[in-house]
Amino acid sequence: MRQQFETKADLGRQCLQWVESGHILRQATPRKARKLRKLSAFDLVASMRKPVTEDHELDIIRASIHRTPIASIVTDNRLDDNPIVEANTAFEALTGYPRDEVVGRNCRFLSGSGTEPEARGVLRSAVEQGRPTVVELMNYRKNGTPFRNAVMIAPVLDINGNVAMFIGSQMEVDPADVGSGLIRARALQLVSRLTPRLRQTLELMASGYRNKQIGGMLGIEEKTVKMHRARLFQALGVSSSAEAIRIAVEAGIPFNNRG
Ligand SMILES: Cc1cc2nc3c(=O)[nH]c(=O)nc-3n(C[C@H](O)[C@H](O)[C@H](O)COP(=O)(O)O)c2cc1C
Repeated sequence: MRQQFETKADLGRQCLQWVESGHILRQATPRKARKLRKLSAFDLVASMRKPVTEDHELDIIRASIHRTPIASIVTDNRLDDNPIVEANTAFEALTGYPRDEVVGRNCRFLSGSGTEPEARGVLRSAVEQGRPTVVELMNYRKNGTPFRNAVMIAPVLDINGNVAMFIGSQMEVDPADVGSGLIRARALQLVSRLTPRLRQTLELMASGYRNKQIGGMLGIEEKTVKMHRARLFQALGVSSSAEAIRIAVEAGIPFNNRG
C-alpha cells in the first residue's frame, strides 16, 4: 500500500527511520541491498537531492552524532540557555549521565569546584560569539569522579547565518598527555594531507556553514560540496561532520568570521 505524507519533512523523517531500521535493505533486490549496505543512513538521506526543509536538515545534523564513537552532544542555541537536545551513547559512557537526564540542560553541569574559571570563560565567550573552540578543563562524571575533558564546540548556522545549534564533543585526556600538544600535532598532521579545496571546505564546515552556503561561497554546486565532504571524511578517516570539525578545531584551522 502506498503511504501518504503530510509534508516533505515527514517523508524525509520516515526515510531516515526506514534506513536505520533496515526496512529499505529488506525491500531492495540483493544487488541493490549490497550497494546500500555500504552507505550509512546519513549518506543515503543526504544524497536525496535537496534537504527537504531547513528543520529537516538540522534534524540530519542532529542525528549525525550517533555515527561517531566520540562523546558528542548537540545544543539548541535558539532555546533559552542553549540546552542539550541530543547526546550519543559515548557521551553517556564518558560522563555516566543517561541521555534523558541531560536533554534540556545546559552542559555546565559537568563543571564543578575544580573547573578552571578561565577555561569556562573561553567556552562562554565562544558560545556568545558563535565561534568554534577547543578547551581543556576539569569536569566531573555523574558519580563525582573528576576527568580532564578536551571539549570542542562548533556552531551550526541557519540559512540566515544565525547560530541555530552547536555541536560539541568531549574527549578524556590522559593525564600523561596534558599540555603535551599531542592532540594538536595529530590533528595538524591529518589536516596537512588535505588539498587546498578540501581544507577550504573543512574550514567553512567548522565555521558552521552548510553545504548550500559553502557552495555559494566557493562558487561551486551543492552536489560538488557533498562530493568534497565525502572525500574529506575519507582523507581524515572519519564518518561524521562532528569528527571532521573536531579535527579542524584541534588543528587551529582559522575561523571564517561571519562579521
Ligand atoms: C555544544 C557545547 C558543549 C559543551 N560541552 C561542555 C562540556 O563538556 N563541559 C563543560 O564544562 N562545558 C561544556 N560546555 C560549556 C557550557 O555549556 C557553558 O557554556 C560554560 O559553562 C560557560 O558558561 P557559564 O559560565 O554560564 O557556565 C559546552 C557548551 C556547548 C555549546
